[in-house]
Order: sequence, then structure tokens, then C-alpha cells
Amino acid sequence: MSSNLKFDATDRVMHEERVFSPSQDIIDNANITAYMKTKGFSDYSEFYKWSLANREEFWSDLASELHWFQPWKTVFEWTEKPFFKWFSEGKFNIVYNCLDRYIGTPIEEKVAYHWEGDDGSTRTLTYKELYQRVNQLSAALQKLGVQKGDRISIYMPAILEQIIAVLACARLGAPHSVVFGGFASSALRERIVDCEAKVLITADGNHRGGKLVELKKLADEALLDTPTIEKVIVAKHLGTEVNMQEGRDIYWEDACEGIGLDTVVPCEELDAEDMLYILYTSGSTGKPKGVVHIQGGYAVGTYATTKFVFDIKPDDVFWCTADVGWVTGHSYVIYGPLMNAATSIVFEGIPTYPAPDRWWQIIEKYKITILYTAPTAIRGLMRHGTDWPAKHDLSSLRLLGSVGEPINPEAWIWYHEQIGKNALPIMDTWWQTETGAQMITPTPILPLKPGSATRPFPTIEADIVDKDGNSVGHDKGGFLIVRYPWPSLMRTIYKDPARYETYWNTIEDVYFAGDAALKDDDGYFWIQGRVDDVIKVSGHRLGSMEIESSLVSHPAVAEVAAIGKPDELKGEHVKVFVILKNGFEASDALLHELKLHVRTNVGPVAVPDELEFVASLPKTRSGKIMRRVIRAKELGEPVGDLSTLDS
Ligand code: WTA
Repeated sequence: MSSNLKFDATDRVMHEERVFSPSQDIIDNANITAYMKTKGFSDYSEFYKWSLANREEFWSDLASELHWFQPWKTVFEWTEKPFFKWFSEGKFNIVYNCLDRYIGTPIEEKVAYHWEGDDGSTRTLTYKELYQRVNQLSAALQKLGVQKGDRISIYMPAILEQIIAVLACARLGAPHSVVFGGFASSALRERIVDCEAKVLITADGNHRGGKLVELKKLADEALLDTPTIEKVIVAKHLGTEVNMQEGRDIYWEDACEGIGLDTVVPCEELDAEDMLYILYTSGSTGKPKGVVHIQGGYAVGTYATTKFVFDIKPDDVFWCTADVGWVTGHSYVIYGPLMNAATSIVFEGIPTYPAPDRWWQIIEKYKITILYTAPTAIRGLMRHGTDWPAKHDLSSLRLLGSVGEPINPEAWIWYHEQIGKNALPIMDTWWQTETGAQMITPTPILPLKPGSATRPFPTIEADIVDKDGNSVGHDKGGFLIVRYPWPSLMRTIYKDPARYETYWNTIEDVYFAGDAALKDDDGYFWIQGRVDDVIKVSGHRLGSMEIESSLVSHPAVAEVAAIGKPDELKGEHVKVFVILKNGFEASDALLHELKLHVRTNVGPVAVPDELEFVASLPKTRSGKIMRRVIRAKELGEPVGDLSTLDS
């Protein structure tokens, strides 16, 4: 067990005893109810128990609702523990299931995406149009020499081309690596270098909240040092003049020139276990980890959760507000909704621009029925008061969702009262980049308790354990773990399988990815937050070490420690402690310069809210900075075991 975990398992009872039960009408009409009926159940507890004993049956039922070029032979097998496979020997392509299977059916005329720009401009793509655009770009990528297995980096704003690019790669079996458009150039460079991408797909630039982001310029800085990149495709979004490097850079429209919209590039018939994408995420060390998801099981997991948690029906208009640069965007802006033939919304801007009712206006305009967002956004909008949502007709909404960080009961209640008009269920979904899909989450049939992500999804055997892996029982804090793999779990960390293995051997033989939680008498889970060096700022996942390594690259800085501190709005914010090199003086000017340094190196999301110059930092005898101790002191909590502290 790693010694730098900051959670001391203590009993923490934090019940919010209000329970919100769903109406009989919701229960009767839920997708999960229909499935439970086929197995002879009407009660979720009974059904969940059944699912633990019949994992393979549950997941093959869901997999059978998708199209396979060739059926699988084995549902689940360990290859060499902790490595495993689902749906072995099945031939599959997730894009076939997102697009091709609807062509020639009435769904082809259905809207796949309504796009709303920062400035209010709009665009719509039907399933047929999306299919055509994806095929066209796939053909263009092939012309540029892209083949199955080649990695493609995507660094784009929230525009429809971003989604087209993702699907065009997946269609060819070329793993995509989407890098959040809010990351700075060195973060982009590091990710391109790690996955040895052959092509980068980007855009000239974009606006967010009225502010210009010169994306191509940032990409160019990254590309100064990315030897594997052969071609850069640039989507014209703003239409501004950007630097185009001869022989390397090509505009999207030129890459597609001569490729008609009737061009069909058949979906590559892939192995279920072939790589679908790499998504970099932060962990305990400086280098972001390339989480690897695969075609088959990931598709089944995102399809099933979208169907049962969001309860998607043919007439729904679904809005997941996440950026495609994060896993929530991959799973619930792109893959899950498309496999459920849903109509989705993509919004380029921010909730408060030009005014704090922008979101409510969008919900009214598109008659959105399901809204899935993050607690930070809700807390931010709460601050602007109830008049803004009250100005709009939100009656189209029927289901709400939350993800990314614990939602405090106060925000839950506001969301429920003001946006949900005291009637709508809130799906508080706990999951991670690594898990691929939602894990601990209600479906609309479960009674809800504000602040609890409720109960595990069918087949997910989650528990709260101590550091030796023993269940701690009810109402005691401990580590949140899952026993047995599920289809959408990552398969490895790219080029670093040993790092993947740590998820299964930190606590022996179970999956543990860093959260503390407790379970109440009803079996409801209450997530407490991360116990490792991951900081969640506004739901965005950052690593202490990434911020630290960025700062030590500044000439004035000798040593740094970065920690997360509780923040009423953002959940957590970053505080850094800086030791300056000899010859440098602490000053306000230097403080601003260091913050700017993080902004330009890692990105605006990572900028520390607090920066303190210090003379020393607590270290282990081997010289490792003890963030756990710094954090405890800063928050006035018990510092715990100090036996390894040097001084
Ligand atoms: C946190 C985001 C409480 C948690 C999908 C987890 C949550 C980390 C919730 C993963 C939730 C996510 N309640 N905490 N509903 N959802 N988290 O990889 O700490 O960006 O480990 O995936 O977010 O963050 P990631």
C-alpha cells in the first residue's frame, strides 16, 4: 500500500436523511424496468444481487443489442491477471454501431447533433450527414497514409469537426488521442510525444465566453518538438489567417477535396480488444498516464449506461455539457448517445456568457429533456440566483445528472428545486477515466439521497475496504474498490503496463483508483474524494506533480509542492508552496510570473489560486516531499504517521 495516500480511514457519518422517491410513472417506463422484467425482477436490490452472480449474462444481453461482424466466442476471460478480455474473437467497430446501422432506416433523418456556437450561431447534423462527413474524413486520412493502428492526436474546440474527427479515426481503427483544447502547448506536446502520433487534427481557433483562443498557434508551439507528426489537418472554424507550414499543414477542406459526400470507407472489422483510444489523465507522478480503451467492451459499457442511467428514449434531447477532451465527453457526448440513436447538444461556450442564463436559454431553445453536468457548474450558476433560470421555460427537462466530483447536498437541492422543479430525479454518477463508464450511479427507479451516488450499476461489485482489503462494513470510511473487471474498464496504460497493474495491487486483487467513501445502512455510497495526489479543480483532473514539474522549469524555482484545498465553488483549488533558488527574492511580481508560467505551460485550469513562498518543505529521509503532511497542516487536520519524516 502506497504510503502517500492521504486518507486515514475514520468513521464519518454524513447522512442527509432526505430521501426522494421516484414516481410510479417513472418506474413503470424506465428502460431498466423493462430489462429487469425480462429476468423476472421488479426490485432493484434483488436484481442487483442476481447481476453479481450473472455478470456474463447481463453483459452479453447488452452486447447482443449492438452489431458484431462476427460474434464473440468467450464473454470474459483473464489472460494473465490483472489483464483480461471481454468478447474475445468478436469482430466489431464502434462507429458501425454509432452510424452505419442507422443508414437506410428512419433514424438517418434524425438529428444527431445540434451545435450552438459561443456567438449564438447554430448548426445541425443528422445521422446521415454525420455518417457522410465521417466517411469523407476517413477517406482523407487514408489518403494521407493513415492506417489501422496509427495514433492520431486531436486538439480542437467544441465544434462538430471534433466529433467527426474522433469517429473518422475509430472507423479506421486508428486510435485517437483527444487533448483538451484548454491545455497549453507543452501539455499537448507531451501527449503527442508519448503516443507517437502521426497526424494532428486541430482548428484555426475559437471563442469561449467571447475570448479568442488561438489554437493553431498553441499547436505550432507544441509541434516544434514532435518528430512523429507527419501531417496536421486544420479545420477552419474562425476563418482567420493562421500559419500553415508547407508540406506539413493542410486545411480540412483541402484534405477532403475530391472526396464526395457519397464516398464510403467501410468500417474496419476490428477485434473487440483492439485499441479505440488513448486518453491522458493525471495520476500521482508527473507524467500523465495514457489510459487505453478498446472497441468492444467500452462500447457495450457506454451503450448500457446511457440506456439505463439516462434512460434514453427516441424523443429525448440529451445534453452532456462536458468537453470532448475529457472522458465524460468521449463516453456521453459521443459514443453512448450515438449508440442509443439519441439527439445531442454541443455547446462551444460557457454558462455565463453573454449572461448567466445562457444554459437555461439553450435548454428552452432545443427543448432539452436530459441535462448532465458537473457540480461546479451548478454551484457557479447558483451564485447568480434563481431569477435567471426562472426566466426560462425548462419544462422539457425530465432527468438531470451530475458527474466529476462530489455534489454537496446544498447544490443537489438547488438543482432539484430550481432546475428540476422539485420533481426530476438526479443521476449522481461516480466513475473515472479508467472505468470508461458510470459505475456507482442511480437509475431513474432508485430512491435518491442528496449527496450520495447511490448504488452500483448492475454487476459492479463495489465495496469499502481498509488498506488490507477487508470490508469495513456500514458507516465507516474506507477505500472505494471494485472486485472483478467489467467490459468498459481500461485495458492498460499505454506503453506502461506496470502502471496499470498498480490499480490491482495497491490493495490486493481488487481495482482501486484512489477514492475514499463510505456506505450507509441502505447500501448507498457517499464518495469523499481522492486520497492520492490527484486534484479535482472544477471537476477537471490535475496531478500535483504536473503542476510542480511545470514550476520547477522556471529559473527562479528550486522546489515546489502542490496540493488541493477545499473550495466552495470549484470543489478544490490548487495551492503551491515554492522554495526559491539562491539569489531570487519573493515578490508580487514573481508570484504573478509563476502563475502565468503554469498557465502557459499546463493551461488555465491548472493555475494555482494560492502561491506561498517558503524556506523549507517536509520531506522523507529519501528526499521525497510529503504532500500529505503539508496538506494536513494547511487544513488543520491530524498529520498522521510521521515516522518517515526527515525533519
Ligand atoms: C471524482 C470523471 C464524487 C472521483 C468521470 C474520481 C466523483 C474522479 C464523481 C475521476 C461523483 C467523479 N461523485 N466524485 N459523482 N464522479 N468523481 O477521471 O474522485 O476525470 O476518482 O473522471 O472524479 O475523475 P475523471
